[in-house]
Amino acid sequence: MNRKYRNTVIAANWKMNMLPSKIKAYAEELKPLAAPAKWCDIVICPPFVMIPAAQKAFRDSRISIGAQNLNENESGAYTGEVSSEQLSDLGAHYVIIGHSERRQLFGETDITVNKKVHAALQANLRPIVCVGETAQQREMNVTEELVTLQLKAALAGVPATKMRRIVVAYEPIWAIGTGNTATAADAEAVAASIRAVIRGLYGARTARAISILYGGSMNAKNAFELLSQPDVDGGLIGGASLVPADFAAIINAA
Ligand code: G3H
Repeated sequence: MNRKYRNTVIAANWKMNMLPSKIKAYAEELKPLAAPAKWCDIVICPPFVMIPAAQKAFRDSRISIGAQNLNENESGAYTGEVSSEQLSDLGAHYVIIGHSERRQLFGETDITVNKKVHAALQANLRPIVCVGETAQQREMNVTEELVTLQLKAALAGVPATKMRRIVVAYEPIWAIGTGNTATAADAEAVAASIRAVIRGLYGARTARAISILYGGSMNAKNAFELLSQPDVDGGLIGGASLVPADFAAIINAA
């Protein structure tokens, strides 16, 4: 990470885990443990229904709340969906967009990801845009090409003036929830290539200001090495974010 030019962001993606009734206890445990990490933007992304409880539980801290998804449309007849404006009105600051589970299990394409990025920016939310390759794509040696395509599609039409609101998360699909973390060198290589793509699109000043996170089995043991890489500016953490002490250990490694 390079704190001189960009923020360190440690974000929890709770996925479809946790219960509303457990959030208060989680927050009370995490807040004092995370308090020393003043250099770090800490984000909790619970399921939609828990956002109000999370807002309340973290109100007296500098921990922000994010969502795990949104619908790309402004409003209307979209039963079961949640809009960017609704999230923003609730007080959410971030939203994860294009997570591989959304792409693989819910049919999200690069085109919907791009629409969601625009919807998020429109409502003043900070998109955490996820990109990453399958194990097969890594074996075929097309990781950087694939990630470049995903990133360019996600950012299509995003003006330079809005770019500093974007966070990118590199999440190799084969590393998610498997315990097979990418090596620090591999995470750095892809993060650096993501920064090079942004540099090509928006110039060097914007590129060095964007936080690029790594996600995929990051835990208390491997966080320090991953986060020491010059282009890895934080983490998007699934499993290890569900236990306050484990999540705090990652925050304090940043
Ligand atoms: O969004 C988080 C990632 O999918 C990583 O999940 O830390 O459980 O591997 P994980």
